[in-house]
Amino acid sequence: MSSTRQDFYKAVKVSDHVYWVGAIDWDIRNFHGYTTRRGSTYNAYLVLADKITLIDTVKAPFKEELLSRIASVIDPKEIAYIVSNHSEMDHTGCLPDVIDVIKPEKVYASTMGAKTLNEHFHLDQEIVAVKDGQSISLGNMNLSFLETRMLHWPDSMFSYLGEEKLLFSQDAFGMHLASSERFDDEIDGSILRYEAATYYANILLPFSPLILKLLDRVGKSGLDLKIVSPDHGPIWRKDINMILDLYSKWAIQSPTKKAVIVYATMWHSTEIMAEAIAEGLSAGGVRIKLMNIDDCHRSDVAYEMLDAGALIVGSPTLNNNMLPAMADILTYLKGLRPKNLIGAAFGSYGWSGDALGQVKDVLTNMKVELVDEGINVRYVPDADSLDKCFSLGAKVAQKLKEVARDG
Ligand code: FEO
Repeated sequence: MSSTRQDFYKAVKVSDHVYWVGAIDWDIRNFHGYTTRRGSTYNAYLVLADKITLIDTVKAPFKEELLSRIASVIDPKEIAYIVSNHSEMDHTGCLPDVIDVIKPEKVYASTMGAKTLNEHFHLDQEIVAVKDGQSISLGNMNLSFLETRMLHWPDSMFSYLGEEKLLFSQDAFGMHLASSERFDDEIDGSILRYEAATYYANILLPFSPLILKLLDRVGKSGLDLKIVSPDHGPIWRKDINMILDLYSKWAIQSPTKKAVIVYATMWHSTEIMAEAIAEGLSAGGVRIKLMNIDDCHRSDVAYEMLDAGALIVGSPTLNNNMLPAMADILTYLKGLRPKNLIGAAFGSYGWSGDALGQVKDVLTNMKVELVDEGINVRYVPDADSLDKCFSLGAKVAQKLKEVARDG
């Protein structure tokens, strides 16, 4: 390392032969549409085996931080192998430059990973494809690979260092959380649960059926796990079962007696309707999250949906459409493919009233079971309309009691 500016970064010891050498991104607030209020980390790991191995790299602007942390332990040129568990740019952006610096003997990735890396970077370096279940010798240790296709990219895989019972799990079990602490036992549990849930809801939810299968392979009855090292956020060394149990719960997508009412409003008519619906739900014994989209982000709605059993959506009509911000939220939620939901739509309008039908169409496309034809109020709701809104809430509550569990 010739630079003095960046020589202060240090590696953090994870286990006897493994060091964290990643980067901390304190400032990132937008991860392709997911708001990351606590920043993030891009974790990379150094395995000090006979064949020194680097597991994953970091986002391109953080290359010097990665190399500096490595240099606090060894000369980066001593690295023999690089393993890329996931091709997305937050873990590979600096890979071409790192290959140039290190000149490793081999770079490994899954079969799809090898293709993806070449399509990203058009590399001169050959990427050696490894198969599911394959192991490579690092001399005194062995690294084995588990393909985890579509978790959450086709290239995704895990690496397992059996001698240290350590799983490198790329995005899985991770969270967007920048911190000076590197381990789960150093961070408040409520923050861990919140950020892990937010990450799951915004990144992994569409792949929940695959996660259930994955948990069979790596969970309590699968690999012998002492440490789980994801590519974002803290390393799990104390409470691995906590994150495994949470993933099981989230992946099942079993609805609870909770309703999310998400609404847009122009002149408060749809807002008043939302509040009347909320009162009806509450009277029916259902937990509620009432979300005005002016005051919340799409990724906050996704987080609240993670344990919800009902989604109730309201929008006024503007120029024959639902409000554009509501279309944003619904497009995002639809892509996350939440399951086992009931729901309803409502809104207000001046003359055309198209939004109600559009919202219902999206909910139907999302396979949300509509329990009511919905309520469309012209201009400002009167007492009778608000009674109908209250009754709609009560109706959803009744249905939710039949289909949802407590929780
Ligand atoms: Fe953290 Fe899918 O990249």
